[in-house]
Amino acid sequence: MTTLLTTRDVAAIVAAKGLAACFGTLVRYLEEDFARWGDFDKSARVANHSKDGVIELMPISDARLYSFKYVNGHPKNTRAGLPTVMAFGVLADVDTGRPELLSELTLTTAMRTAATSVMAAKRLARPGSRVMALIGNGAQSEFQALAFHHLLGIDTVRLYDIDPAATAKLVANLHAEAPALTAIVCASTAEAVRGADIVTTVTADKANATIIVPSMLEPGMHVNGVGGDCPGKTELHADVLRAASVFVEFEPQSRIEGDIQQMPADFAVTELWRVLRAQAPGRRTADEITVFDSVGFALEDFSALRLLRDFASELGLGREIDLVPDMGDPKNLFGELRKPPVPATAANEADVAAALHAALMSA
Ligand SMILES: NC(=O)c1ccc[n+]([C@@H]2O[C@H](COP(=O)([O-])OP(=O)(O)OC[C@H]3O[C@@H](n4cnc5c(N)ncnc54)[C@H](O)[C@@H]3O)[C@@H](O)[C@H]2O)c1
Repeated sequence: MTTLLTTRDVAAIVAAKGLAACFGTLVRYLEEDFARWGDFDKSARVANHSKDGVIELMPISDARLYSFKYVNGHPKNTRAGLPTVMAFGVLADVDTGRPELLSELTLTTAMRTAATSVMAAKRLARPGSRVMALIGNGAQSEFQALAFHHLLGIDTVRLYDIDPAATAKLVANLHAEAPALTAIVCASTAEAVRGADIVTTVTADKANATIIVPSMLEPGMHVNGVGGDCPGKTELHADVLRAASVFVEFEPQSRIEGDIQQMPADFAVTELWRVLRAQAPGRRTADEITVFDSVGFALEDFSALRLLRDFASELGLGREIDLVPDMGDPKNLFGELRKPPVPATAANEADVAAALHAALMSA
């Protein structure tokens, strides 16, 4: 049987463990996996592009576990009432190929992306950083703000989005979730960035945008560039990259998808795992400008799926499903066709009853 985790199950994990503890454990799992970089069979993700977006498959494995994530990126989706980013994925046993876990990864992507940003900022931001600018206040933004607040000591966020409603939503959510975190609404990116120790860009636009330009940089800033993650979709002016030490996840993928797609092939970057293994320095001086050119790498979802598996098993969450056949005689696949249908579960019956009720009321 395969364990199924829905979005509600992941929300139940966060409710049981607490968001700060989830972020903290996720960073630990990420650091463990990035530190054993050589153990993984890695490849750049497979991206299918269309006019308004992209759908990507992100596989990775070590000697014991295999994972993949399905994820999309469609910046115009929110106008149609759909999220920009939606995802799910699988964790499977390498020895047999058996899928162990099938999980939602939309909430989880937001958490793992924020945890990865923190893992990078721990090594790249100035120690004692307290103020973060947050440009782009959509679905990912609460997770970025709260991970930096809980794990890195950020006590003030300076917010800007071209959509004031998105900023208002972020302020309300942060106020309810973390009253000690001061949120300042700004009238422009330039205003938000002024005086910030860390600048997080997490905008969605299928364009070569220049959200951060060189005139906004201040000595010692760390730029956490999250939204530029696809060919033709960038956030940082090329001169921002030239002014900085630039760190990436998996260089072959980042050259295609990251903000560094604007740069020549020999533009120097450092893969983050090398900093974790002390093979390369992180921040070297208080005045240095650092950039984490984040695009999202399959290893981060591998770590997140491991964590979901462990937390779900500890908390008894999830549902066993026959995603693949559970056969007495593994050669008698044909016999599966003769098995009686599975009766609806209580939850399904409740859903069906609610749907029937709604249909009757609207008739
Ligand atoms: N690096 C990663 O690992 C990773 C992971 C998840 C998402 N992402 C990317 O992060 C971005 C944000 O994702 P989301 O789920 O929050 O999307 P979203 O659509 O919910 O929010 C994006 C926000 O950016 C705002 N925006 C667009 N252009 C802007 C501009 N010029 N200045 C200020 N704000 C602007 C929009 O109004 C919107 O509120 C996407 O581009 C997504 O692909 C990256």
